[in-house]
Amino acid sequence: MPAVDGLTPGKALIELRQASTGCRGCELYADAQQTVFGQGPARARMVLVGEQPGDIEDRQGHPFVGPAGKLLREVLAEAGIDDRRVWFTNVVKHFRWRSAEGSSRRLHQTPTRTQAMACRPWLLAELTVLRPRVVVALGSVAATSILGPAFALTKHRGQTLDWPEDVPAGPTSAFFATIHPSAVLRAPDGRRRITRQGLVDDLARAWAEI
Ligand code: URA
Repeated sequence: MPAVDGLTPGKALIELRQASTGCRGCELYADAQQTVFGQGPARARMVLVGEQPGDIEDRQGHPFVGPAGKLLREVLAEAGIDDRRVWFTNVVKHFRWRSAEGSSRRLHQTPTRTQAMACRPWLLAELTVLRPRVVVALGSVAATSILGPAFALTKHRGQTLDWPEDVPAGPTSAFFATIHPSAVLRAPDGRRRITRQGLVDDLARAWAEI
């Protein structure tokens, strides 16, 4: 990982993105098309942390550009959040997948804790440079990767959480966790509207900290 001290945030993020392309911190690089580094303005006040890039993100090289990303951008707008002021990233920066039987489809596989821990220094480096006001972990994999395996998302979603000790903080940082947007996509028809509204409300609460 490059030394980013003394660089402007914009330059430091470019250096980190470039260095991450060659990451061999775990085996996931071997089957992914590319590293999907975080993206957004260097002066973003809010950082949203997802699990890992999906199939479309892996092909295009940008976070949250597939179906979950489309939904995320819609709910951000509903929460009154301008997505041009947000940094989008993931705890794991390579797509973990397996082949679907009898087809060329690539199916999402949840990253292991070891893979998430191997990737964690990239997230910490992003936060060191960005020093955001608010970080929101999206989903249980992101939340437990940052806060530890004992963290219970169902109990603490939408609450202002203690800032994790080893995560670099800005002067007045707040930490939140909520559901992953794919939980809305997966929700049964009868629960989709309420699940989506819950995500909107949690994001609006986090944005109010800014
Ligand atoms: N899901 C994530 O967690 N991150 C992405 O970038 C896309 C889908």
